[in-house]
Amino acid sequence: MLMVLSIGGSILARDLSPDRFLLYANVLRELSAEHSLVVVTGGGKAARDYINVARSVGANEVVCDFIGIDITRLNAQLLISALGKDAYPEPPRDYKEAEAVIASGKIVVMGGVVPGQTTDAVSAILAEYLNADLMVVATSVDGVYSADPNTNPDAVKYEKMTAKELVNTVMSIEMKAGSKSPVDPLAAKIIERCKIETIVMDGNDPAVVSDVIMQMATKTGSMARIHSGTIIGFD
Ligand code: UTP
Repeated sequence: MLMVLSIGGSILARDLSPDRFLLYANVLRELSAEHSLVVVTGGGKAARDYINVARSVGANEVVCDFIGIDITRLNAQLLISALGKDAYPEPPRDYKEAEAVIASGKIVVMGGVVPGQTTDAVSAILAEYLNADLMVVATSVDGVYSADPNTNPDAVKYEKMTAKELVNTVMSIEMKAGSKSPVDPLAAKIIERCKIETIVMDGNDPAVVSDVIMQMATKTGSMARIHSGTIIGFD
């Protein structure tokens, strides 16, 4: 199976702990024994900090995005370092380059590509471009909620939902100031269009991410309930 795994920067680069990168590297190595993997890393706190400084000194939003992209690529390079010879040595700069280097048989790790989006969208576009079998978004929340669980105590988690429901949910969350959805609206629209099965899940424990991917890959999970995430399905 070909999988695109999006790992949020707030998960992977939390506290910039070397152990987090090494733990994820171990899990990715195991998964890559059976599956082709393309990993997209987010920027996390460092991206936000650098973007805030850039904005404060007068940079426009495109410049801020370029700075964010650079941080996502730095996180990709840290993960590549943790993977050693099992990773393709450079993060691809765009989708075509990613496709070309999959042939190396190595784990491909990349960050952002163009201003105006986030790495969720990179992952979804990549999944569509590569005709991936599965996309996994490992993030800091354990799935998609009816509202932002950080700001709304009545938010209810979906265990399964359609892509259309995902788009509607994400749009309604993003419209509220200060709220943040687990998948950005562009990524949700791409998931709806490409119809690739997607899981949005808590990425804090890489071993759980691996378990869920294995369940989905063997189809034991597709119809089952995956407690640590939300399945966006098409059946
Ligand atoms: P992230 O994907 O990490 O953004 O990219 P995020 O959703 O805010 O971060 P998490 O989920 O909390 O980790 C960081 C920033 O890099 C720029 C954007 O400015 C984004 O906010 N970026 C990233 C792009 O402009 N284009 C890309 O393709 C990717």
